Amino acid sequence: MHAITIPEPGGPEALVWDEVPDPVPGEGEVLVEVVASAVNRADILQRQGNYAPPPGGSAYPGLECSGRIAALGPGVSGWAVGDEVCALLAGGGYAEKVAVPSGQLLPVPEGVDLRQAAALPEVVCTVWSNVFMVAHLRPAETLLVHGGSSGIGTMAIQLAKAMGARVAVTAGTKEKLDYCAELGADILINYREQDFVEEIQRATDGAGADVILDNMGAKYLDRNVRALATSGRLAIIGLQGGSKGELNIGALLAKRAAISATSLRARPLGEKAAIVAAVREHVWPLIADGHVRPVVDREVPLSEAAAAQRVVEESGHIGKVLLVAS
Ligand SMILES: NC(=O)c1ccc[n+]([C@@H]2O[C@H](COP(=O)([O-])OP(=O)(O)OC[C@H]3O[C@@H](n4cnc5c(N)ncnc54)[C@H](OP(=O)(O)O)[C@@H]3O)[C@@H](O)[C@H]2O)c1
Repeated sequence: MHAITIPEPGGPEALVWDEVPDPVPGEGEVLVEVVASAVNRADILQRQGNYAPPPGGSAYPGLECSGRIAALGPGVSGWAVGDEVCALLAGGGYAEKVAVPSGQLLPVPEGVDLRQAAALPEVVCTVWSNVFMVAHLRPAETLLVHGGSSGIGTMAIQLAKAMGARVAVTAGTKEKLDYCAELGADILINYREQDFVEEIQRATDGAGADVILDNMGAKYLDRNVRALATSGRLAIIGLQGGSKGELNIGALLAKRAAISATSLRARPLGEKAAIVAAVREHVWPLIADGHVRPVVDREVPLSEAAAAQRVVEESGHIGKVLLVAS
């Protein structure tokens, strides 16, 4: 088969379309013939040499895919050769075939085309696990999503609105904020021109955000704590603004607030399977009834993954950039 390999870390040109051995599905795994994958910001960190695959994981990038099951490994039940699926991966999605633990498979949701289903697993599992399973966002609460037009952000807006929450977003341009509004965002904040702490307080009569989904880490830590409501929950999922910050514990304590930080890729198989099962139960019906949909900016051939990563690195996209294998 062919896959995108990274012989040496570097810029987008470090991605090489190469001939490599087919993966062999192990115990509890299936072999998926990939129809599409999608770019995640973590793939760029991996290409730069800053995010190694977890031990035992595929060396190729790619945290999600859609495709058809081509073979079953030992001990797999409930799935059959030919099934159309999408899957959460620890790596290996930028390839024509990938071995996937069966607990990380999802059927293609009703009403979604097989290629576009590749845009779903990573963002849906990340948003559901952080915003709902960890931060317990409730109806009528306010969620602040940083990077509202990102792959993660476009899914967070839709899921939070579908669950009856009020949604505030930050983004860097008016065009991106307008798109977030089309998806249902109620409060639009241009992070280049406005102070999100002031804006969120103004929009909530001084109460603040009940939950914040944060991609910035250190750079926003202090401001995020100030933007939180009493009993607020800050869920950190990205470190685009650095990993070492100073925390005013007094401010956190006074608000009886909580901070969580999680990475999906490195979680044990059982935890990933539990998240995937929760997503199938709670999110798949929202997609089938049209409340939530994949947001795809563009489709790029998998062999041209370098061009696709350039777009994401320069934030030239809204939602997801798909990599189409066949
Ligand atoms: N922990 C996990 O398990 C997990 C899983 C998946 C993703 N993530 C993280 O989630 C984040 C989004 O991932 P993605 O793949 O959806 O990325 P993406 O589409 O490339 O989006 C990156 C976003 O960062 C925004 N941004 C840049 N500077 C900002 C600032 N100063 N304030 C607010 N937003 C800013 C960009 O906004 P503009 O385009 O408007 O500038 C863009 O929306 C990344 O940090 C990624 O690493 C974490």
